Amino acid sequence: LNNGLALTPPMGWSTWNVFHCDYNETDLMEMADMLVSSGMLSAGYKYLNIDDCWEASSRDPITGMLKYNETRFPHGMRALADYIHSKGLLFGMYTSSGEYTCQQYPGSWQHEYLDAAVFANWNIDFLKLDCCYQDNVKDRATAFISWSKALSIQNHSILYSCDSDELILKENNLEFPFLWAPEYCNMARIWFDIYDEWISTVTILDHAANIYYASQPGYWNDLDILTVGLGGQTLEEYTAQFSLWALMSSPLIAGNDIRRMSKEIGNILMNKEVIAINQDKLGRSGNMIRRAVDGSYEVWAKSIYHQNMSQFDSTHHTLRFTPPRFHAVVLLNRLNTTANITLDFKDLFGNALSPHPPYPIWTVSIRDLWLHQDLGKFNETWQASNVPGHGVRM
Ligand code: GLA
Repeated sequence: LNNGLALTPPMGWSTWNVFHCDYNETDLMEMADMLVSSGMLSAGYKYLNIDDCWEASSRDPITGMLKYNETRFPHGMRALADYIHSKGLLFGMYTSSGEYTCQQYPGSWQHEYLDAAVFANWNIDFLKLDCCYQDNVKDRATAFISWSKALSIQNHSILYSCDSDELILKENNLEFPFLWAPEYCNMARIWFDIYDEWISTVTILDHAANIYYASQPGYWNDLDILTVGLGGQTLEEYTAQFSLWALMSSPLIAGNDIRRMSKEIGNILMNKEVIAINQDKLGRSGNMIRRAVDGSYEVWAKSIYHQNMSQFDSTHHTLRFTPPRFHAVVLLNRLNTTANITLDFKDLFGNALSPHPPYPIWTVSIRDLWLHQDLGKFNETWQASNVPGHGVRM
């Protein structure tokens, strides 16, 4: 969506994974404080997003406007927005395109322009539009497009996050999110809800591999709110999820309780080198470039910007098709036992676009983004030893 927002993948925090429906304004103010004091905001997490369940059980009978739950938000949404903004954060809101939200609060069907104006008046900076209680795919598509217009006419910019998950099941249907969402949305969910288990991480990842090319500045495939730090998986599994979400240029929306974040989880979510890969200004997505025949490991890679790149491109026209020579690489161990994984440099440089590699010797300098160490220069291949089960080297 060409609204000047999401030029790199959005970063923030959302209520959904940790609170579901159980939160109030005090929790959110504490979370805002902690996003600042934990260093999350300086690491780039600037949106504080309220997901479902903030709503009152019905609209205002006279004005027809959406209402917030006054018991849980005694000071109201505008006051909460002001608090969040006073911390240097941005404020995200949630509604559904259907008659109800997924948790059966009033949805926005046929109230798109009114609700957008109410949200803008609350000073929101981000809107997640869900699609529950709207089984008619045509109506849903209409609503998602109306919302895009309704948000665009407000007096300040609002990032538009689309979640029309079920549509992706309709093979060859033009309403596949990756076909329409880049035009109307700044990000769009590509799969069903994430949950705090390894199988969920890899299922979403596998799906992202098929449609990686849709991501570009202004629109990013949304692999869903991170489960990092929720407690159901190992640190290796969380490190792998974070590395891969970063490499796939997914929005990085944390979903854990920042008030109780351990040092280890903080080190994952605030690894600045990994975040820099996600936020890289070349604006590409990564993709899988090799899978072991037996499926035991995979190599994922993303071209990244380097200052020498443009110079290289403009002075060596004959090598126009040489791919960029700086890559972020994730070696993923899909087994639950330790493994050695070999990276073959030909996989990075000698692809179909460049059948005759211009370099006689494949010499590559490698830096480990989790050890924060330069590992040195290597010829032709590099072996990562002892990659933990469900773990990565990046
Ligand atoms: C859907 C969405 C989730 C979350 C819930 C809230 O399931 O996909 O991300 O927003 O609704 O009810």
